[in-house]
Amino acid sequence: MIAPLGWWFAPITRDMSARFQSMDSYQIIKNIHVSCAGLSIAGFVLRSVWMLRGSPCVHHRLTRVVPHLIDATLLLSALGLLYLSTYRPNGSDWLTFKLMGVILYIAFGMVALRAGSTTGQRAIAVTAALIVFAYIVAVALTGQRWPFA
Ligand code: HEM
Repeated sequence: MIAPLGWWFAPITRDMSARFQSMDSYQIIKNIHVSCAGLSIAGFVLRSVWMLRGSPCVHHRLTRVVPHLIDATLLLSALGLLYLSTYRPNGSDWLTFKLMGVILYIAFGMVALRAGSTTGQRAIAVTAALIVFAYIVAVALTGQRWPFA
């Protein structure tokens, strides 16, 4: 009974292991990086909605801890990509602009979720952070400083 089942699943498992073998560590770290980028923005949107609605979920322990873990992994994977590649920010290339975008994203995120003193201020900061995040992703995907130009 087991053997036919094993035969049935063999092509799937064979295919998966082949896929993992062909992925080099750069690709694995890049996948982690991109996944964390997705989790980071999803978490930011969720926390912003909770914050603007005055939900108590904003103060939950998980809400305060998990985003830091995701963002730390995002930045660590970025360091891993830099280490394994020849990419270096040179002061005027796409990576420098992406880094400046990341700093702006963090700053707007802090105003949105912590420092903003009125709901209006926080809502503007949320919008600005989302626009900057879209810019960062566009720069990463195109390798252009001004991807929308
Ligand atoms: C909010 C923060 C960040 C977001 C949303 C983000 C997003 C992305 C995305 C979507 C990619 C994949 C691009 C592709 O598929 O070709 C990528 C790749 C990459 N990112 Fe980030 N990133 C962030 C932070 C950083 C930081 C801080 C650095 C380092 C200074 C960095 C360095 C890189 C590098 C070197 C690549 C690989 C580019 C390639 O192989 O073509 N990222 N990033």
